[in-house]
Amino acid sequence: METLAVPQGNFKLSRFPVRQQETLRAWDAADEYLLDYLNDEQLLHSNCHILIVNDSFGALACALSGYDTVSVSDSFIAQQGMQLNLNQNQLDPDAVEFRHSLMAYGQADKPYDIVLFKVTKSLAQLEDQLHRIRPYITHNSRIIAAGMAKGIHTSTLQLFTTIIGQTKTSLARKKARLIFAHFDPELIPPENSYPRSYRLANTEYQILNHANVFSREKLDIGTRFLIENLPTDNRFQQIIDLGCGNGIVGLMAAAANPQASLRFVDESYMAVASARENFSLAFPDREAQFEVTDCLKGIPSDSSDLILNNPPFHQQNAIGDFIAWQMFTEAKTILKSGGELWVIGNRHLNYHAKLKKLFGNCSTIASNTKFVILKAIKR
Ligand SMILES: C[S@@+](CC[C@H](N)C(=O)[O-])C[C@H]1O[C@@H](n2cnc3c(N)ncnc32)[C@H](O)[C@@H]1O
Repeated sequence: METLAVPQGNFKLSRFPVRQQETLRAWDAADEYLLDYLNDEQLLHSNCHILIVNDSFGALACALSGYDTVSVSDSFIAQQGMQLNLNQNQLDPDAVEFRHSLMAYGQADKPYDIVLFKVTKSLAQLEDQLHRIRPYITHNSRIIAAGMAKGIHTSTLQLFTTIIGQTKTSLARKKARLIFAHFDPELIPPENSYPRSYRLANTEYQILNHANVFSREKLDIGTRFLIENLPTDNRFQQIIDLGCGNGIVGLMAAAANPQASLRFVDESYMAVASARENFSLAFPDREAQFEVTDCLKGIPSDSSDLILNNPPFHQQNAIGDFIAWQMFTEAKTILKSGGELWVIGNRHLNYHAKLKKLFGNCSTIASNTKFVILKAIKR
């Protein structure tokens, strides 16, 4: 745990989930720049109504918890991180209201004085979020975004200009930059292009994707390889699509295993909402479960006989195989004895060694020049 020292106070912050020997901080230079700017420009006053969008682990929420603050994010991890950090700084855990990305961002009769954005890599998510804040701002609102300079492009600024109004940027400080957008009530922005759908080739399935969903424009090539090699012998009763994204993997597993009950799990609210919509459209008479959680937290042990997983390689800008490792470890607990974990990954990721170490066995279901599908059995 490290301490963020800003004009609003000193805050001990951890990333979520907490890991031993964590080398990464729970905030970045863009958070510091933003909080310093609010202080330097004296923008905070006692009854300020503030919206924070995409706070990674609650650094901004902790610093601004003394105001009337709402935090919007698509990430369950971010939500948990905020709760953890409010608690460990003895701040009221309810002081900042959390709203997920598909909820209304505020109340129309109570516009925000200040909107603080952490710019994420995904332009699609930014586009969607800028549309969603419009009903809750006026020309008096201060809209300030922050990000690391390398992640702020002309296309990023263009989105602010076309959806909010005139936009300019600050100088870079510690490689971070601020964006200032001025709401233009006369502006008629283009339609929000999310959610979007595509037809899954060779099927009847129409796949809906909210803005922050993995491979939202078309089927990912790794996912395609996995669905081409799914088990079809109908021997599984409880199947989990772990890290489900839009739910294509679980959907195709459901089609191939008509007796099975399905559970879709992801840490993204938009992913789980997309999977729910896609499944109920494809199988209107079939029940399934949908959970927003971190890996498999909260899912009963020994409750599944097949877990399908295309693991992510990053979380909150941190790249690595730590989430894959966490997913495999938790899958082992959730599987029944004899249950199987099927994992797809790039060949170079060497998931084989991890699965062998954890499960004591690992075999190859299929492989091509780029991907390998592995199976580990809980003995
Ligand atoms: C590579 S994508 C796979 C999506 C989908 N299964 C597919 O193959 O198209 C990985 C997914 O894992 C999700 N994810 C990332 N971290 C997670 C976590 N800690 N718990 C649950 N899901 C997570 C991401 O939101 C993303 O949808």
